[in-house]
Amino acid sequence: MDYFPIFLRLANEPVLVVGGGEVAARKIDLLLRTQAKVTVVSPDLIESLAEKAAAGVIAYVAGEFQPELLEGMRLAIAATDKQSVNAWVAHQCERRNIPVNVVDDRELSRFIMPAIVDRSPVVVAVGSSGDAPVLTRRLREKLESFLPQRLGDLAKLAGKLRPTVKAKLEHASTRRRFWENFFDGSIAADVLSGREDAAGQGVLDRIGNSLTRFAKQSKFAGEVALVGAGPGDPGLLTLRALRALQNADVIVYDRLVSADVLDLARRDAERIYVGKAAGNHHVSQEDTNALLVKLAKEGKRVCRLKGGDPFIFGRGGEELEALAAEGIRFEVVPGVTAAAGCAAYAGIPLTHRDHAQALTFVTGHCKGESDNVDWAALARPGHTVVFYMGLNQLENIVARLREHGVPEDRSAALIEHGTRPSQRVVTATIADLVQKAAGARVESPALLIVGEVTRLHEALHWFNTRSVEVASTDEGRLSA
Ligand SMILES: C[S@@+](CC[C@H](N)C(=O)[O-])C[C@H]1O[C@@H](n2cnc3c(N)ncnc32)[C@H](O)[C@@H]1O
Repeated sequence: MDYFPIFLRLANEPVLVVGGGEVAARKIDLLLRTQAKVTVVSPDLIESLAEKAAAGVIAYVAGEFQPELLEGMRLAIAATDKQSVNAWVAHQCERRNIPVNVVDDRELSRFIMPAIVDRSPVVVAVGSSGDAPVLTRRLREKLESFLPQRLGDLAKLAGKLRPTVKAKLEHASTRRRFWENFFDGSIAADVLSGREDAAGQGVLDRIGNSLTRFAKQSKFAGEVALVGAGPGDPGLLTLRALRALQNADVIVYDRLVSADVLDLARRDAERIYVGKAAGNHHVSQEDTNALLVKLAKEGKRVCRLKGGDPFIFGRGGEELEALAAEGIRFEVVPGVTAAAGCAAYAGIPLTHRDHAQALTFVTGHCKGESDNVDWAALARPGHTVVFYMGLNQLENIVARLREHGVPEDRSAALIEHGTRPSQRVVTATIADLVQKAAGARVESPALLIVGEVTRLHEALHWFNTRSVEVASTDEGRLSA
C-alpha cells in the first residue's frame, strides 16, 4: 500500500484552496460537505465561487498565493493552472507539515483524493494510488448502483441507537451479534426499501423488542465452522466460507491456508496458527481438538480454516468428533480440494472418456511394504490416481506402481503451489518422474497425478501460461 487510507474530520477546521477555477470549485464543494472552513486565494473567481464568497460560505483572499496564508491551516489544496505556483504551494506546505494535494500531480501531493460514494454517514472511498483513475471511477459507478440509496438512513439510525444498545447489552460479543442480526434482518431490509421510516416509532418499537430478546441471552453458546479454504486462490472460496471468515471471533488455521485467503477474514478476529510443517508438528491434533473445544466453550464463534476440503485428508472428521463429544454446535463448509483445484488450473481433466473412467485420491503417506493401499487397483489402465502428500514418497510410489505393472510410459504430473501465482507443473512418465522432480526442485505443497489424462496438460494449460521450458534432459518440461 503506497498511501494510508484515512477519513479526516474537518468540521470547523481551516483549509486553504489555492485557485479560483472549476477544479478548485469541485474540491471546495467536497470540502464544504465536511463543514470545513474554506479560504480560497486567487486573483479572480468563477461565478459559483464568487457567489459563495459573497454569501460568506467561503472566505476569499483576492490576489496571489502568499506563504503566510498557510498559517494555522489543517490542509491545503493547490488547484491553479500554473504548475510553478502549485509546486511553490506544495513546497511551502511541506515545510510546515501541512498535508497538501496538488490537483493532477501525485508527485507534489502529500495526499490524494479517492473516488467516493457518498451515502453519509457511510462513505466508500476507492483509490488506485493515482495509477488508474478511470478504473477507480468505474468501480465507483459499480458501487453506486450496488449500494442502496437509503444506506445513510440505516447508518444514522444505528448511530442513534448505539448508546442504548451499549447500555442494554453488556458484552461486546453480544452487541456484535445484535448488530449483525439487525443489519441482516427484516428491520434493516424494511428501512432500506423504504417500507419503514428510519425515524419512525414502528422501527423503534421493533428494535426495542429485539434488544429485549438479546438482553435475556446473557451468554451465547460458542460454535465452530469447519471451513475448506481451497488450495490457495482466494477466488475459489465459497460464499459460505467467506461469510464464516467474516463472522468469526477466532480463526484457527493451517499451514496450507494461503495469506490471500486469510486476508479476507474480519480484521479484528483473533488468528491462531496450528499449522504443521512436514516432520515438524507444531501443534498436535489432540491439542488442536482441545483448543477448538475450549474456544467454543468460551462462547466464541470459531472458524476452523483448513486447506482444500476439510474432509479430504484434512482430519476434519476427528475435529468434529471432539466437538460432538462435548455437545458443541458446528457446521461444515466444503472447499475445493487440491485435486480439483490443481487439475483445473493445470488443464488436466481428471476423467476423460478416452483416457480415464475412474479416479482415486490416495494419501502418499504410504510407507513401504506395510501400507494397505491396493496398488494393483491403482496400477490399472484407464484410471487417474491423485496422490496427496506424495512428494517425499515419490520414489516409493513409483517403485510400488512399477511392481504392480504400471508401464514405464504411463504419464504423470506434479503440480507445485497449485492455483497460486507461483504454480508450476512438471510432466513426466513413470520412467523419469523421480529424476525430473529432483531436477525441477519441486517443493511442497505439491500434488502428484498419475494417468494418461496428464498428457492433456500440454494442450489445455491456461493458467499462468508463461511457459518455462527446461532443456536439460533431467529437468523435464516445466510450465509455470
Ligand atoms: C494434508 S493434505 C490436505 C489436503 C486438503 N484437505 C485438500 O482437500 O486439498 C496436504 C496435501 O494436499 C496437497 N495440496 C494442498 N494444497 C495444494 C496446492 N495448492 N498445490 C499442490 N498440492 C496441494 C499436497 O499434496 C499436500 O501435501
